[in-house]
Amino acid sequence: MEVKGLILSGGAGTRLRPITHTRAKQLVPVAGKPVLFYGIEAMAAAGIREIGIITGDTSAEIEAAVGDGAAFGVKATYIPQSAPLGLAHAVLTAEAFLGDSPFCMYLGDNLLRDGVAGFVDRFREGSADAMILLQHVPNPSEYGVAELADDGSVHRLVEKPKEPRSDLALVGVYLFTPAVFEAAKALEPSWRGELEITDAIQGMVDRGLRVEPHVVTGWWKDTGQLADMLEANRLVLDAIDPDVQGTVVDSKIEGRVVIQAGATVERCHIRGPVVICAGATVRDAYIGPYSAISEDAHVERAEMEHAILLERSSIIGIDTRIEDSLIGADCRITRSDAIRSANRLLVGDGSRIEIL
Ligand code: TTP
Repeated sequence: MEVKGLILSGGAGTRLRPITHTRAKQLVPVAGKPVLFYGIEAMAAAGIREIGIITGDTSAEIEAAVGDGAAFGVKATYIPQSAPLGLAHAVLTAEAFLGDSPFCMYLGDNLLRDGVAGFVDRFREGSADAMILLQHVPNPSEYGVAELADDGSVHRLVEKPKEPRSDLALVGVYLFTPAVFEAAKALEPSWRGELEITDAIQGMVDRGLRVEPHVVTGWWKDTGQLADMLEANRLVLDAIDPDVQGTVVDSKIEGRVVIQAGATVERCHIRGPVVICAGATVRDAYIGPYSAISEDAHVERAEMEHAILLERSSIIGIDTRIEDSLIGADCRITRSDAIRSANRLLVGDGSRIEIL
């Protein structure tokens, strides 16, 4: 059975501002690679060949990054969504592309350690009308939550319940037959003005259709917020294989470190897991665990740890260690040589800065 893919890569990304003022959140690199690529690779590994990608305001950069999909072994089709009106709205937007195929829907800012192949196979072999992935979480009121009946079937789905009756959050991957379209078409916008996928799935349950739950055991991360993005970076870096291709001079390299060809590291202490991408230069610096330095970035006389530094940005001559940070592209963080002690900032809208 041919299963198509649907990756949601539109949305507003308000929780990740200011990064999302100028870039799609799905293109923020985690361990040096855009989040979205992990999803496409997971689909390709599940044997999915035709992928529809829902796009919004950032469609041009998503298309530029993914192209026709050939680099991933898939065929990518772009499906513009008129506005980010909800996950079920995105499904309806893709109806013509999906046709009568069953499909795997994947939120483009989500990451699953074990990919989706196991679930796609089970769905192919079974006869469910939909399959949802769930994970036990400590803070269910921040997620769509599933309540299961005693026989293990899905009883009820609630979006961000104030008093959750279960700790099973909906992971951002779903498998559907075309039966989902009828349920989605019957929806009214929720209080937040969106067509909710939880309501569509609830509609399928209410119609007596078979919605099969599966609990995911490997880690899963939704990278929609800063802390989650850093956590995803940490989890992916935790599993990298060391590979030093770049130039390393008079430096101490510990643990699992990737230094891509074309990167330069001089007189540094690098303690992995760390990724330093092509064209980056790092001099007289300490780069601690869970750091990812993107292409052509520059770190000199500074220390960083558990942080992501995006393309062409520089951190130069900073005494205090930079930690738990996501620094966008083309930023400059330098030391002020003013006599008075003062911080000088040119900061974009929606930025967050904590000063020691
Ligand atoms: P969310 O993170 O739930 O929504 P968002 O991107 O609008 O972010 P925020 O809440 O911070 O404003 O979206 C999950 C994924 O689905 C993400 O990759 C964006 C995508 N999406 C769409 O493609 N269309 C939509 O209508 C919505 C709501 C999300």
